[in-house]
Amino acid sequence: MKRDKSTALPRLKRGQLPAYQRVYEAFRDAVRSGQLKSGQRVPSSRELALKYGVARITVTQGYEQLIAEGYLETKKGSGTFVAKELPDGFFRAGLDGKQSRPIERPRPHRGSASSYIEQPPFLSGCAALDDFPAELWLKLYAKQLRGSPYSLNTYGHGEGGFRELREAIAGHLSTQRGVRCEAGQVLILSGSQPGIELVARALVNLGDTVAVENPSYRGITNSFRMNGAKIRSVPLDEQGMLVDVLDRMKTVPRVVVVTPARQFPLGVAMPVGRQAALLEWARKSGAWILEDDYDSEFRFRGKPLPAMQSLSNQDRILYLGTFTRSMFPDLRIGYLVVPRSVYPDFLALWKTAAMNPPVSLQATLAAFIREGHFQRHLRKMRKLYERRSRWLAERVEDLLGDWIEVGVTDGGMHFVGYYKQPVDPLRLAEEGRKRGYVFMSISSYGPDSVERDGLIFGFSSFSEEKMEAGLQALREVLES
Ligand SMILES: Cc1ncc(COP(=O)(O)O)c(C=O)c1O
Repeated sequence: MKRDKSTALPRLKRGQLPAYQRVYEAFRDAVRSGQLKSGQRVPSSRELALKYGVARITVTQGYEQLIAEGYLETKKGSGTFVAKELPDGFFRAGLDGKQSRPIERPRPHRGSASSYIEQPPFLSGCAALDDFPAELWLKLYAKQLRGSPYSLNTYGHGEGGFRELREAIAGHLSTQRGVRCEAGQVLILSGSQPGIELVARALVNLGDTVAVENPSYRGITNSFRMNGAKIRSVPLDEQGMLVDVLDRMKTVPRVVVVTPARQFPLGVAMPVGRQAALLEWARKSGAWILEDDYDSEFRFRGKPLPAMQSLSNQDRILYLGTFTRSMFPDLRIGYLVVPRSVYPDFLALWKTAAMNPPVSLQATLAAFIREGHFQRHLRKMRKLYERRSRWLAERVEDLLGDWIEVGVTDGGMHFVGYYKQPVDPLRLAEEGRKRGYVFMSISSYGPDSVERDGLIFGFSSFSEEKMEAGLQALREVLES
């Protein structure tokens, strides 16, 4: 057996956290502090389990999370190593190691059986409405209307949104996504789209360049374009946006928009090494970063990946999140976390444009989070979406294996199936529409053409029967 050449092992902290998480945190902190160096081999899961006196599965789960986030990487046949791409000293410069608050225990609630207007397969981003605790939500909402501690006779233009919701969001973000912020940096918005609009209005001058991923969400390019920006698209690889392309641009972009935890729409995750390189580039060039953390709460294995904001010194990064995926699109509540230095400017714009959702809804959501229902709902949806994703991926492979290769399937509300044969995306979309389905190709997102086209397979809100019917229709169109 090869001898373990690593230096002292990271110390496993005692505490209430599950053992796998303590393994994860010990190694993550050792990498960040420089105790473990890029390229250094770490013990095998078997060796480490023996040394720590824990089960091997515990170590495996901790390592999986570290690999998913890009702290470690495996090399076939030779073991597990600290990732090569981690820039020296980056983490030591920016972290203060603040402890996050634990989230409250959820209380049980009754679910509800209702019938909703359904969307057609394979539209992405739709919630499983039948599994939303509607009765409970209504009770909380009624409580706000009947006995609200605030006046319903106002426009709700308070300081950035309902205070308790801003506090609940700051708490949730710090425990679940590693985001470092306080309630006084949060602006509550009617979804994340107004957040994109707000950033465009606040930061972009006529003719500024804004860099976006290719492909990306059209709402991003539309907002920036309408506010006078020139859009430059940046290609992606399997680790997300190519940072060296930004470096070679003639004009330094004023804003770079990224979806690091789960690239939209491809689903790839940006490892911490690439994130650090992007943040370093932004620091040197003076560009702003808008991190759009769209549906990353639904990660099927391990915890959701920490937000890129958690690695930064927070002064050039805006973090955008939304409840329209974690709850349902019509809720229209999202939030923007803004650096302290520019918060007053953003707040003034936010007030002028009246970007706030109704306070009664904000207060209902605050109670939903505070009482633990939100965490419970997320856990339930994560399981359901994972089941649906797995079922659909297997069926696509069985039924359409000659046509389609399934892409990343480790989270979210859709995955991409790449075409293995030439497909006309417009004809596919049109034939789908005639049959009552949404067959949307990556190439329809833009802003520029893509090297490899594929189909968006939304699965989150569809029963297996519905998806099966959609697959049969898709096969019929592909084969015709
Ligand atoms: C990547 C991305 N960001 C933001 C949005 C806007 O979402 P919402 O305004 O519903 O929060 C979408 C919607 O599909 C999206 O795909």
